[in-house]
Amino acid sequence: MCGIVGYVGPSSQLADERGTAAGHDALDVLVEGLRRLEYRGYDSAGVAVISDGTVGFRKKAGKLLNLEQELGEHPLPRSTTGIGHTRWATHGGPSDLNAHPHVVDGGRLAVIHNGIIENFAEIKRELVEKGHEFLSETDTEVAAVLLADTYNDLGDQDLTAAMQVACRRLEGAFTLLAVHVDHPGRVVAARRNSPLVLGLGEGENFLGSDVSGFIDYTRSAVELGQDQVVSITADAYEITDFHGNPAEGKPFEVLWDAAAAEKGGFPSFMEKEINEQPMAVEQTLMGRTDPDGNLVLDELKIDESVLRSVDKIVVVACGTAAYAGQVARYAIEHWCRIPTEVELAHEFRYRDPIVNERTLVVALSQSGETMDTLMAVRHAQEQGAKVVAICNTNGSTIPREADAALYTHAGPEIAVASTKAFLAQITAAYLLGLYLAQLRGNKYKDEIAGILAELETMPAKIQQVIDAQGAVKDLAQSMKDAASVLFLGRHVGFPVALEGALKLKEIAYIHAEGFAAGELKHGPIALIEEGQPVFVIVPSPRGRDSLHAKVVSNIQEIRARGAVTIVIAEEGDESVADYANHVFRVPQSPTLLQPLLTTVPLQIFACELATAKGYDVDQPRNLAKSVTVE
Ligand code: G6P
Repeated sequence: MCGIVGYVGPSSQLADERGTAAGHDALDVLVEGLRRLEYRGYDSAGVAVISDGTVGFRKKAGKLLNLEQELGEHPLPRSTTGIGHTRWATHGGPSDLNAHPHVVDGGRLAVIHNGIIENFAEIKRELVEKGHEFLSETDTEVAAVLLADTYNDLGDQDLTAAMQVACRRLEGAFTLLAVHVDHPGRVVAARRNSPLVLGLGEGENFLGSDVSGFIDYTRSAVELGQDQVVSITADAYEITDFHGNPAEGKPFEVLWDAAAAEKGGFPSFMEKEINEQPMAVEQTLMGRTDPDGNLVLDELKIDESVLRSVDKIVVVACGTAAYAGQVARYAIEHWCRIPTEVELAHEFRYRDPIVNERTLVVALSQSGETMDTLMAVRHAQEQGAKVVAICNTNGSTIPREADAALYTHAGPEIAVASTKAFLAQITAAYLLGLYLAQLRGNKYKDEIAGILAELETMPAKIQQVIDAQGAVKDLAQSMKDAASVLFLGRHVGFPVALEGALKLKEIAYIHAEGFAAGELKHGPIALIEEGQPVFVIVPSPRGRDSLHAKVVSNIQEIRARGAVTIVIAEEGDESVADYANHVFRVPQSPTLLQPLLTTVPLQIFACELATAKGYDVDQPRNLAKSVTVE
């Protein structure tokens, strides 16, 4: 997830002819747009402008501030046309070289990109065979070289046509913006599965990942559709599909102010991130299979013989990531038959754990900077274990120190309480489990393909749960004075219960506990009194009926003692209806994948309840997003 901005203003000649003021300096518009879009990524930033028949560009690793310093020291000429990018690294770590724009074809073409190009390796091979050279490790440079190659092959100086043709070769998710020295007053852009909005000004036009990229200049916008190319000049725009047929975008007026625009119109980053979960899961799954349907985890650079000899897996993590680890354990043990432990990173280290060359340690961390997890990684490596990091932040310390990294592609998570990163971590852990099962022959190819196909359906199912959030929010509003809320779950529902309780503690400051439903009779049932709200996560009745029946009995037991039961159950599971005060439905899915669905109402509940209490859900008291002390 990166931030993208593009601008074309009037040339001084055009302004003179019209008798209007000259437009803005492209650089001012780009840097201001990037500042507003920085929430989308802050690994590096860069700009390119067309001036005097050349592409001038600057790019710098780190936050936008670094780019601004660079521009101060090495200014770019005034220009009417340019593109800007703020990066959240996917392919290739965060560095000056991997930063966008990628300027190719002898400095004639500059390209920026948001997304993941799934078939970049194959295209790169072809382009290398044609004699092209590459400087960076990014998929973006491949798209840039492909566009330049197509432009030159077509030979008619039509950048828009070249973009259409090039996009037909690309698979995956991408928004691309390009400027070319042959076209000093034009930006050409394209999108597939990745956002792009056009902003219409007076004698100037804009492009942005979202409206916050240009909200200081215009509120008149056009949403681009799937697989569309748009070419903008100062006073016109033209939209086509990837085959050059005329197409239309969706015009709208932006009603939000600048601050709300960054949050996509949501009242908080947390709510926005909850709503981004289908995308987070989808992007984490993207590009993981080869044309034969085999699961490929390119980033997992640990020798296959080492992975085959693993006899124990230990997952280390903190907070929400540790609950993702608990979900992962059920899946990994089931699919790979490798004993798997999950341990809080800060406990792991001081326990003198039994870890050796045949242990695979999986470090889960959204930020990649959590000191407790980093220390656990170092300790494991000292004992000879190999470490795989599952991380959302490319180039952060934990994946850098780990032996291999598997990145989640949830995009930056701004709210302190983790939501989309949790679902992305679970997804990545499933991929790791399936990969090990494939490598070690624990599952047949068709079985793995079957589970992958189920996983592919999850983003749409998560969206269904999100679409039904109104009822969850109503309940949260009605419960804003609750003093305590309990959560029960079994099997993979247990870590979901723990996560539901943690969310409520973190942002609503309510006493909340998650329990394994089977443990109820061993103590927690004593807490149940008249009116006590209890969430119960019910497993699927299909496949594991004994598990399901036991949880239904638990609901009856607490209901009989006066609890207000709030049940999360699969569509079509009528067995719970009689004992539930409230039921929230999730679409049917295999039991092991259910946490991707059942977690979502709990996040929405906590977010809404905390908001109803008047708390800042993005920055809860006493907490930090990234805890870099032990
Ligand atoms: C902090 C945050 C939690 C997060 C945990 C682990 O405690 O407040 O939301 O789950 O750190 O963070 P990580 O970046 O390692 O996933």
